[in-house]
Amino acid sequence: MQNTTFQFFKQQLSKLAGGYKLDVPPCPIKLNQNENPYDWPSTLKQAVFERVRDVDWNRYPPFVPADFTSKVAKYLGVGADQVLVGNGSNELLYAIFVATLEPGRKVLIPQPTFTLYKLLAEILGAEVLTAGLDDDMQYDAVALETAARDANVVVLASPNNPTGSVINPIDLEHLVQTTHALWIVDEAYFEFHGETALELTRTCPNLVVLRTFSKAFATAGLRFGCMVCHPNALPLFAAAKLPYNLNIFTMAAVETAMEHAVTLKGRLEEIKRERERVARLLKASRGVRVYPSRSNFLLFETDRDPRALWQSMVNRGVLIRDVSSYPRLERALRVSIGRPEENDAFLKALEFAITEIAPGAKA
Ligand SMILES: Cc1ncc(COP(=O)(O)O)c(C=O)c1O
Repeated sequence: MQNTTFQFFKQQLSKLAGGYKLDVPPCPIKLNQNENPYDWPSTLKQAVFERVRDVDWNRYPPFVPADFTSKVAKYLGVGADQVLVGNGSNELLYAIFVATLEPGRKVLIPQPTFTLYKLLAEILGAEVLTAGLDDDMQYDAVALETAARDANVVVLASPNNPTGSVINPIDLEHLVQTTHALWIVDEAYFEFHGETALELTRTCPNLVVLRTFSKAFATAGLRFGCMVCHPNALPLFAAAKLPYNLNIFTMAAVETAMEHAVTLKGRLEEIKRERERVARLLKASRGVRVYPSRSNFLLFETDRDPRALWQSMVNRGVLIRDVSSYPRLERALRVSIGRPEENDAFLKALEFAITEIAPGAKA
């Protein structure tokens, strides 16, 4: 670091300055963050306001929100002694890393994946190992097992963002049971896929499953996620979590969400159908290769400069994610599945952009 005034920062921060970055130009069609395109009905929002009105705002929430956590555990079908709750699953990932990573420790992060994992691990000074996704971006159990022998912690998103890769449950069970590493399985997109590792957490002390209400539950703005682990490991993870981390508003909203899960998740089938429709049409586009997805987004490669395609679509009011700076994704873009009319607007903008930009190398 050049500036001597900043000698107090950890050395690794010089290359991480600014942290997690996202280019979000204002666009009427927003398909860049894998959000649920359907907001809560106003009747349910009203129910949350009424719940919060009757709570004392001047008091701290419970030190350990036991009743609330029990409701979340019941919803998930796990023990209340297995659940920690947080402001989005990201906050809990941070607590898990604080509890397990430091200089001299190693974390295995198959790439490409959610960029936050590597960023947080590096801030904590851990060494990041990369292995486990094969040439088709599928999880490779043999490569994972070999690399995990040298790691303290492994992070797998399943389905993975942005590749959509999913870990085979039999492979996962074998990996967790035959290695000493802590396995963190991020199931942010579980509801679009349907397979979970939750059951294993009861018997495997070296497994943590992360869940979020940001995606299927359409609750990204309220920030709620939870983690499920073995009861014996829970108090150790809890030590690294901030007290009073969940505010009364989020808890009221999440209780309402769980009571009305059928309504809030009512569009999932439509989103999955739309994913298949968009994938089919994308595959027919010139110079485009689409990856299989069990999630609410699609990753695709293009023979055009991806940044130029992204910019051309932004110019037409359609915002998707440029993931071409991710490892191994030099030619890739990612689009979230939106409402049918938003998906149509995306397909149309892409078609225009492909016509506008000649095939060729990345600028
Ligand atoms: C793999 C993955 N995990 C976690 C998150 C964010 O979860 P939360 O909103 O609960 O912090 C995302 C958001 O895009 C994600 O893609």
